[in-house]
Amino acid sequence: MQTQILIHMKKLISLLAGVLLLSGASLLAQDATVRVHDAGTGITIPAEIYGQFSEHLGRCIYGGLWVGKDSSVPNVEGYRKDVFDALKALKVPVMRWPGGCFADDYHWMDGIGPQEKRGYLTNNNWGGTLEDNSFGTHEFLNLCEMLGIEPYISGNVGSGSVEEMAKWVEYMTSDAKTPMADLRRANGREKPWKVKYGIGNEAWGCGGNMTPEYYSDLFRRYGTYLRDQGTNRLFKIASGASDYDYNWTRVLMKNLEGKGMAGISLHYYTCKGWTGSKGSATKFTDKEYWWTLAKTIEVEPVLKKHIEIMDELDPSGRVALLLDEWGTWFDVEPGTNPGHLYQQSTMRDAIVAALNFDIFHKYTRRLKMANIAQVVNVLQSMILTNETEMVLTPTYHVFEMYNVHQDAEFIDSEVLTAHVKTERECAVPEVDATVSRKDGEMHISLVNTDLKKAKKVLVTFDEAGVKSILSARVLTSKDVHDYNDFGKADVVKPVAFKDYKLTKAGIEVTLPPCSVVALAAK
Ligand code: AHR
Repeated sequence: MQTQILIHMKKLISLLAGVLLLSGASLLAQDATVRVHDAGTGITIPAEIYGQFSEHLGRCIYGGLWVGKDSSVPNVEGYRKDVFDALKALKVPVMRWPGGCFADDYHWMDGIGPQEKRGYLTNNNWGGTLEDNSFGTHEFLNLCEMLGIEPYISGNVGSGSVEEMAKWVEYMTSDAKTPMADLRRANGREKPWKVKYGIGNEAWGCGGNMTPEYYSDLFRRYGTYLRDQGTNRLFKIASGASDYDYNWTRVLMKNLEGKGMAGISLHYYTCKGWTGSKGSATKFTDKEYWWTLAKTIEVEPVLKKHIEIMDELDPSGRVALLLDEWGTWFDVEPGTNPGHLYQQSTMRDAIVAALNFDIFHKYTRRLKMANIAQVVNVLQSMILTNETEMVLTPTYHVFEMYNVHQDAEFIDSEVLTAHVKTERECAVPEVDATVSRKDGEMHISLVNTDLKKAKKVLVTFDEAGVKSILSARVLTSKDVHDYNDFGKADVVKPVAFKDYKLTKAGIEVTLPPCSVVALAAK
C-alpha cells in the first residue's frame, strides 16, 4: 500500500513533550495522547445527531420495517418484531421519511384509509418497484410514537403542491375541527400526532432540479402555508446543498434567513462518485480502506465551510444545519437489484461511523441533526433483513456504543497522533477520540484506524479527571472485511474490553488494530 505516514511536526513535539511531562521524564512507549479538557464546554450534543432515515427504497420499508399484520413474519402491528426491538434498543431520536428522492413523487393521500382501498404506486426513482401503499402516514407516525422517535416528514415539494403539503400538516397535527383532522379521525386516529420536523429534499436534483433562487421563493410559499396547528410547532427545514455546493447555502441563507427557515440541510456521502463503480462494500484493498476514511473525514472541512457562510449571514445562530443524509455508498451486492442500493456493512463502515460522530460532536453549535442513510437494507444500514432473519451491522453497534453521547455535555479534547496521508486532502488520524459527560459520568470513545498495529494511548485530564472505570467495551474483528451475515454467528459485535489501566497520569489504553472502544468512567 502506497500510503505515506505523515506526522505533523508541531503535534509530534507536543506529543513528546506531553509524554515526557506525564511520565516523570521516563519515556513511555506510547502512540497517541488524548488530552481531555474536562472543565467542560456547556454545549449539549443534540440526541438528533444519532438520527435515522427511512426511505421507500428497495427493502427499507417493505420487508425491512414493515411486513403487515397478516405476515407470517413475527410482527408488532405490522412492524417486523426483530427490527422493531433492535430499533428500540438503539434509542433512535429522530427518523426522516418517506424520502429521499422518493418523497418528491409521493402523494400522501394514497397512503391513508382502509388498507384494501389503497392503490399501488410505481417507485420511479428506485427500480420502478410497485408498492401497495400499505405503509403510509399512520404507519410511520405510529411507529415513531411507539418507539419514542421524533418524526421528520420530508414532503413533496418537487411534484406536489403547497396545498397538498399544507393539508398533510393539518391532517397530522390539527386537534381542531378541520376537514383534514376529521378525515384523520374517520381513518381511526382521534388525537393528532406530534410532528416536529418537516419539508423537502434535494431541490437541486431529484427534488425538481431547481436553482437556489427559484427554490428560495418556493420555500417561502411552503413556509407561509404550512401553518402550525394547535400546540404543534413545525421546525421547517429547507432543502440544502450537496457536498461542496457552497453557493446553494449562501443563496438560501441570504433569501430565507428570518423567513421561516428554521434549518437548512446538507447531504454528504462517503462515495467514489456518481458515475462508474463505487467499489465493493466488502472486497477492498488497504488503499481503498484509507481512501474511504480520508473521504469520510472530509466532511469536516465541508461542514466548516457551510457553517462559515451561515455564521456570516446569521451571526446569532438562529438557523440550524442538518446533515440529513450521510454514510457510505458502495456498489450494490452482486445479484441484487441495482435500483435498491442494498450493501453489506463491514468493520470499515464501523470505523467510518465512529469518525463521523467524532467530527459531528465538535460542530453542534450549528449542526443539530444528522440522519444516516438508511436505517434498514439500504446503503450504510443499521439492520439487514432477509425473509425471516435479521442481522445487526457493525454500524449498528457503533450507534449503540455511542448513544451515551446523546444529550450529554460535549467535552473538548485533542488527539496527538500520527496521520496517514492518501491522495485526498485530509490525512487520516491513526487514533481518534470523542468525550462527553452526563449525570457525572464521563464517556470516552476511542478509535484505532490502523489495520495492523495496536495503539497505546494515554488519556489525560486537565482537571479532576476520573477515579474509576465503570465499563469498557470494544468493537473489532480479525479482518476489516468482516461483516455479520444471515445464518452465521455474528463476527462483529461489542465485547468486554480489559486492556486499560487507570494511573496517576490518566487512563492507559491499548486499542486493538481497527477498533472502536467505549469507556465509561467516573
Ligand atoms: O439515499 C439515497 C438517495 O440519495 C436519496 O433518495 C437522495 O435524497 C440522495 O440523492
